[in-house]
Amino acid sequence: CGIIGYTGPLEAKEVLLNGLSGLEYRGYDSAGIAYFDGESKLRLIKKKGKVAVLKEAVSGDRETSHCGIGHTRWATHGGVTDENAHPHRQGGVTLIHNGIIENYHKLTADYGLEGLLRSQTDSEVAAGVLNVFYERFGNDPLIAIRHFVRELKGSYAFCILFDDRPGEIYAVRSVSPLVAAYTPSGAMAASDLTALIPYTKEYFVVPENHIVRLTPYKIRVYDMEYNRVEPEMLAVSWNVDAAMKNGYPYFMLKEIHEQPEALKNTILPRLNKGIPDLTDDGIPDEILKGCSRIQIVACGTAMHAGMAARAFLEPVLRLPAAVSIASEFRYETPLIDEHTLVLVISQSGETIDTLAAMRLARSCHAPTIAVVNVKGSTIARESDYVFYTHAGPEIAVASTKAYSVQLASLYLICCRMAYVRGVYDNIQAAEFVKALLESVPAMETVIRGHEMIREAVSPLIHSRDAFFIGRGLDYTFSLEGALKLKEISYIHAEAYAAGELKHGTIALISDQVPVIAIATQEHIFAKTISNVREVKARGAYVILLTKESAMVEDGLADLHIRIPEIADRFTVFPIAAVLQLIAYYASVGKGLNVDQPRNLAKSVTVE
Ligand code: G6P
Repeated sequence: CGIIGYTGPLEAKEVLLNGLSGLEYRGYDSAGIAYFDGESKLRLIKKKGKVAVLKEAVSGDRETSHCGIGHTRWATHGGVTDENAHPHRQGGVTLIHNGIIENYHKLTADYGLEGLLRSQTDSEVAAGVLNVFYERFGNDPLIAIRHFVRELKGSYAFCILFDDRPGEIYAVRSVSPLVAAYTPSGAMAASDLTALIPYTKEYFVVPENHIVRLTPYKIRVYDMEYNRVEPEMLAVSWNVDAAMKNGYPYFMLKEIHEQPEALKNTILPRLNKGIPDLTDDGIPDEILKGCSRIQIVACGTAMHAGMAARAFLEPVLRLPAAVSIASEFRYETPLIDEHTLVLVISQSGETIDTLAAMRLARSCHAPTIAVVNVKGSTIARESDYVFYTHAGPEIAVASTKAYSVQLASLYLICCRMAYVRGVYDNIQAAEFVKALLESVPAMETVIRGHEMIREAVSPLIHSRDAFFIGRGLDYTFSLEGALKLKEISYIHAEAYAAGELKHGTIALISDQVPVIAIATQEHIFAKTISNVREVKARGAYVILLTKESAMVEDGLADLHIRIPEIADRFTVFPIAAVLQLIAYYASVGKGLNVDQPRNLAKSVTVE
């Protein structure tokens, strides 16, 4: 969910609604705002649907306001209805919540809230509990919040308004993200920076289990003993433009185009005499040298970057490397110890399962390196070491540039490891980097030809299913290709190791079923092409992705997309661009909302 709070001289409704538009990628089932009107009375407007629906509902409201909170929801507890939308109100307390209160059933009973609740959400229960404490402690917000959060099990970030305190916002969090800033235009808090960037570049991450009080003139942070705490200020390097569409019809297309630049921004600052040097990132060579195994944990697209990384790390380093889905790993009893280097990959740095997996790894004394895009995010702060990717803000729910820069980062870490472990000498490391850099213009070439892919994918639009096949590294790329297509076009897509298809799934191949085959790896090229022949013989509509020079017989592919000639190990960059564009144009062709696919959210801070 996306949350925002604002108090200051500007028109609060406008600030909140604009902020919510920027945060909408975090969820968009429903949205709502609460604010104090000109007479300091609290008003609440919330609607099922996107922020645009809320804007419409608010447009008739002529009240002025200078303090309020806003929320855009990704439903967890309770269906998508007006009642379940935030803010929630109980007694004199109105709040918005991101996260999950796990013990809400017990709280409902313990605090006699049954019969008072209008929604099915855990968040309204939280409002009810806080209201009890607020009344019990003589309307003292700090004491009430302190007692309130002690009762909660789960994750949360709250922004709270009290009826009798117009102009003030209180915020508190545990696990779920929350940043705040005092700006020349007032005080703000939000679930992420996107909402703050138009107003300031200086912000702080709300420390966990601290209470923040925002007034038009200042922000105060208190620990749970009510002591004042000075938060550590951070500066954001993005500008407002980076979070706008800049003439592109969708953020996703813009972000696809930004990839070559993002790659350069991520790779070049890490090079010293042509080879990766991670000193400035604070990553000591000792931990790269000392490990005997690598464990990668991540979710979604980041996990697919991890799958590809495993496939190139292991043969170079001759070290066992494993990839785990974070939500599985965290409930296992993993065989890791201080000799296991754990690579944690996350664009947002807030994915709760990834965070929990990292905490588990750290509790096993394994050193962790987090490959993260968002500066100051929870995973970045808690990891032993951080390797920041420099993708800039990624707004489209379907990840594109974050995936590419995660991979570039993992290649750099791989190369540095090979160098410090004596697998590569200077020259070999420099050659590795040179070949990595050659993939950037190759990706550019593919992106420049994007209109061609639009025409090519039109047969896909009417398909119910699609299959992505490849072997080795190509197989890992196909996992991401299938995920992209599913996410934004709603076409059922499966990725298969090409050689495995014949053991069952080939039964699903019939006339005109699309098969996207990736064959960029020389040593297994002929094998993959044999599998392509098998599906073609059964009537598949084949889209074949190879390097420029690949030789295949006429008639094998219905459509043959060729990427520039680069080293096998780095073909992921141009291939990723092709796969992203296939998904993008399938979604556009079906008239869907590319940036905000149904049921998804960009940053999943619930388990
Ligand atoms: C969500 C997003 C995915 C993303 C995954 C992991 O499910 O929809 O696009 O890959 O979370 O996110 P992270 O921020 O940890 O990379």
